[in-house]
Amino acid sequence: MDCLAFLEQLQEEKNIKLDVIVTSPPYNINKSYTKYNDKRDINDYLNWLQNIAVKSLKVLKDDGSFFLNIGNTLKDPLVPFYIANRFTEVGYKIQNTIHWIKSISFEGQDIGKTNRLKENTSIGHFKPIMSKRFLSDLHEYIFHFTKNGDLVLDKMAIGVTYQDKTNIGRWKSATRDKRDRGNNWFIPYETIQEKRPHPAIFPKKIPYMCIKLHGIKENMIVYDPFMGIGSTALACIDLGVKYCGTEIDSNYIKIANENIKNVIDDI
Ligand SMILES: C[S@@+](CC[C@H](N)C(=O)[O-])C[C@H]1O[C@@H](n2cnc3c(N)ncnc32)[C@H](O)[C@@H]1O
Repeated sequence: MDCLAFLEQLQEEKNIKLDVIVTSPPYNINKSYTKYNDKRDINDYLNWLQNIAVKSLKVLKDDGSFFLNIGNTLKDPLVPFYIANRFTEVGYKIQNTIHWIKSISFEGQDIGKTNRLKENTSIGHFKPIMSKRFLSDLHEYIFHFTKNGDLVLDKMAIGVTYQDKTNIGRWKSATRDKRDRGNNWFIPYETIQEKRPHPAIFPKKIPYMCIKLHGIKENMIVYDPFMGIGSTALACIDLGVKYCGTEIDSNYIKIANENIKNVIDDI
């Protein structure tokens, strides 16, 4: 069903509130979805997303998180910020701005002494841009909105180990081999050999990391307004948390249900 209709319905259910909303909306870049028209007037598009922000605020817990993944467009690189601005205008605070890095290249000389990578190395996948003006776009934003901007997060749940182990004990905060990952998240796409079932999916590691960062709570509910083929649902199954999602395209829902069933059958 339509996410706005669902959010309105949820508002009627006074005793259900969401812990985490994690989603990637259409980017208004003319992607060939089978049902949704991804080429709208920019103001119409921004108003629509703003409306989702307004309605989501009413059904999100006071200590809830809304993670919004949105990519750049080369023609108007400010669109993600226009959207973030609309969210803040209606009451959200931007608590974190995360960069989803899809591909990265290291040069041997820039790699520290303690790192095992010694050679020039490129990792990840991206769609090259055949332009003399523009660099290929290898990242997207994940805006982390909260109601007050002061939500305590489970940073170590997605922490990383120290590269240089001598840091442990040397820094007061470094009592174990785990440190803050920071806001650059390298998450490569899985290579898809067969025909793509959907033109714009995100890796399930994105919702997985967002939910862990928010913190796993007993009986928590996660919602993805633009569920596509169910990546957020699959992340929730891995994490053992309850989820719900909305999607207007019955073909994508069918694939999402198949994906969910395959994972559950394997448990
Ligand atoms: C960027 S895709 C999300 C893909 C998803 N993250 C995944 O990994 O499968 C956006 C999805 O939103 C759906 N959509 C568009 N308008 C919608 C609406 N009003 N309510 C619910 N879903 C909608 C589209 O059909 C599309 O599948």
